This record gives sequence, structure tokens and C-alpha cells, in this order.
Amino acid sequence: MNPLKHVAIIMDGNGRWGIKNKNSRNAGHKQGLTTVDQVIKTSIKQKIKFLTLFAFSTENWKRPKKEIIYLFRLLENFLKKRINYLHKQNIKLRIIGVKNFSNNLNNLLKSAEKKTSKNSVLQINLALNYGSKSELINALKILKKNNEVINEKNINKYLHTSGIPDPDLLIRTGNTNRLSNFLLWQLSYSEIFFEKKLWPEFKESDYLKIINKFKKVKRNYGNI
Ligand code: FPP
Repeated sequence: MNPLKHVAIIMDGNGRWGIKNKNSRNAGHKQGLTTVDQVIKTSIKQKIKFLTLFAFSTENWKRPKKEIIYLFRLLENFLKKRINYLHKQNIKLRIIGVKNFSNNLNNLLKSAEKKTSKNSVLQINLALNYGSKSELINALKILKKNNEVINEKNINKYLHTSGIPDPDLLIRTGNTNRLSNFLLWQLSYSEIFFEKKLWPEFKESDYLKIINKFKKVKRNYGNI
């Protein structure tokens, strides 16, 4: 049985679910939060130590302004409402991505990270304004500026994910088989599961099914 320390998730399909069920993409994003709550609970029960959630990519800025504003309001409310609960559950929150939002949101994110920084049951890495290519370019630029050797260890040091082990498992919901500029370096040896269900339809039983399949995979890392 494979140990499972780190799960990364591309939570895709909110918009389609919203249109299909409520005639509104934003309603799908709101419903997606129920799945976020469920996945957090199940991850704790499964003793997973790191959960990385792709909430907003560097490319998502191309979306209509109305949807972007809604998503960030949802995130702000989520943090305000849940931060004490997350803290009580001994959950550590870390933001991965470039924090260049409104002062209000930047401060909220920083204070949530600070408040939960000593927690140890589960670390949630929330990918916000995250893009893997720019993350790598940024790391290489720092190495060049510092005149440091380009090797795996040094590149890891300057990624947003520094200090976080690579994901063992990546799940993408929403019946789309691509990585969308998410953790391209860190996913080199992850097991990838593409799930047909849309994110708001993804239930605990679906998550457990994938975890159980993952545990039985033979992970070779290039060996035989
Ligand atoms: C992808 O679905 C989803 C997003 C871009 C946003 C994910 C955000 C949430 C689940 C809510 C906020 C999260 C937190 C943790 C507060 P899509 O819109 O691309 O769906 P589509 O492929 O059907 O259009």
C-alpha cells in the first residue's frame, strides 16, 4: 500500500455545474465550496498531511470581470467564516502563488497564514494567482541573481512550494484531461486521476475510491 502524504486537486467544473443546475456559473462556484469542506474533512480522516487546491490560476484573469469579482468575494467570505474553524481543527493555511490582490485580501490572507502557521494536522496550500511556468522562471531568475548553482534542490528552494513534499496524487475533476499550468515541476512523479464528475458533484465516496486505487498503484519512479 502506498503512503499518501500529499493530494493536489484541480477543482474543475463549477461553471458547467452552475449553468446546468442554476443557470449561473457563479452559483456553481458557490456550490463548489461544499465539496471543498468535504474534501478537507475526508483528508483529515485519511491522515493526509498536505492538500493543495487550485483555486485561481494566472490565466483565470482572462475571465469576465463579474466572475472574477464573485470568486474573490467568495474566497474572502470563506476565509472570514472558516478561519477560526480551520484553526481549531489544527489546520495550517499557506497561499501558493503571487499575492498581489487588494490590500484587504492580501492582509486577510497574510493574517490567516500567520494565525495558523504552527498548526500541524493538515496543511492546506491554496493556489491563488498561481502559474507553474512563471513560478519556475521566477526561481531561475533568483538563482541567476544570487549566482547559485542550477540544480533540483536549489530550484525547489525558490518555488512557491518550498518545503512542501511533491504531491503523491493529483485529482482533476470536470472530465478534462490536462494540467492547466499547475505544479508542472512538482507533479513529475505524481499519480494522476482524471475524474468525470464536475467539482460540485464530487462526493466523499468518489474521493475515497480514488485514494484506494492510488494506494494499490505500483510506483516505479523510472525503475521497473
Ligand atoms: C474551475 O471551474 C474552478 C475555478 C476556477 C475556481 C475554483 C474555486 C472554488 C471551488 C471556490 C473558491 C475556493 C476556495 C477554496 C475558497 P470552472 O469555472 O473552470 O468550471 P468549467 O470548466 O465548468 O467552466
